[in-house]
Amino acid sequence: MAPTQDEISAEIAAARESTARAVAAGGAPPSHPGRDYPPYRSSALRHPRRPLLRVGADPEAAEWHGPVFGVTDITALDADLTRQHQGEPLGERITVAGRVLDRGGRPVRGQLVEVWQANASGRYAHRRDQHPAPLDPHFTGVGRCLTDDQGAYAFTTVRPGAYPWRNHTNAWRPAHIHFSLFGTAFTQRLVTQMYFPGDPLFPYDPILQSVTDSAARARLVAAYDHRLSTPERSLGYRWDIVLDGPAATLPDPEEDH
Ligand SMILES: [Fe+2]
Repeated sequence: MAPTQDEISAEIAAARESTARAVAAGGAPPSHPGRDYPPYRSSALRHPRRPLLRVGADPEAAEWHGPVFGVTDITALDADLTRQHQGEPLGERITVAGRVLDRGGRPVRGQLVEVWQANASGRYAHRRDQHPAPLDPHFTGVGRCLTDDQGAYAFTTVRPGAYPWRNHTNAWRPAHIHFSLFGTAFTQRLVTQMYFPGDPLFPYDPILQSVTDSAARARLVAAYDHRLSTPERSLGYRWDIVLDGPAATLPDPEEDH
């Protein structure tokens, strides 16, 4: 039988207390969500059971090569998810913008930022998403752009809806946008999720809560920024992404919800 929200919430609290105890005892906050985070049930089958292999004799060797991708076919239209079809998608139009920075606060320039998300009803345009919320013929939910010289990125889209999933009874994901960033070295590759401020579903969600350090969790939540709102057009959210170092934006433990 599927676990109840109360059972999942108790496990979330236990994991968070265990992190708090470790940090209080002088340990560093975790730099990655637990790969076998039990409240997120399917992570039990997906996490590596053996220690990770080192890449070559020299761990720095992973930094010698960077990801390569084509830049010529990225157009401005790719960053506006509201203009990819004949008509306008339904939902609350939003602008999501911010900067991509390295651990020293330096802008990460010319880097590919990719996003994917559910539509305003909480439905992905994907065959694996069959829950009974409407698809939007004017919304695919996929975008990409390159960071500029200041490391800045920006997307225009609609605010995604919350959606149910089957981790436990009555499991709902808070609204989120998936992000993928290549960075300038493979060790900077980041796949994560951005959340919206004040979402009442935060405490119930084992994916967000798999980031057991509260400061790191807060870094996954965008801020409403009135200066980014466009008159008569869209509401603005700011979300800066730090690829590595102690203030890093942490990855999500999986990337398919
Ligand atoms: Fe998702």
